[in-house]
Amino acid sequence: MPSVANRVAVLHGVNFDVLERRPAEIYGGLSMSQLEAKISGWAHELKLEPIYFQTNAEGEFCEYLHRSVDLADAVIVNAGAWTHYSRAIADALQMTGLPAVEVHLSDVEARDDWRTLSVFDGLVLAKISGKGADGYREALERLAGELGVGS
Ligand code: DQA
Repeated sequence: MPSVANRVAVLHGVNFDVLERRPAEIYGGLSMSQLEAKISGWAHELKLEPIYFQTNAEGEFCEYLHRSVDLADAVIVNAGAWTHYSRAIADALQMTGLPAVEVHLSDVEARDDWRTLSVFDGLVLAKISGKGADGYREALERLAGELGVGS
């Protein structure tokens, strides 16, 4: 039986461990585990296998990306504030060579100027922002298409 490439690493960056304490009008009020429960539901509908990682340490985020090559077939990345300045994380994502989608809960284009810059520009298949948790569903759909899963 052919093996299926359907593992999606969902990486949450800095401050996502306390997501429920961040402004609900911006981030939706869910906790990270509630968000992950939604993502898992959508992923399984799409025949994808999600795996999750969160850290508040930039180096650990890079190290997880290094390991992702062996753990996953695709990546969803929401690096939080690191999105806007961490070239180290961008380099680590590029090194994976894996198809990746960038997600933001909030509409980063409509907030502070500094949030409009993304270090992942040019490295990801798509950048989805301002759709709340539903942005992750869209990212999973995009990656399922890319991996040829469920088709
Ligand atoms: C975020 C947007 C970032 O600008 C912010 O620093 C975050 C969360 C989002 O999901 O909307 O931590 O990535």
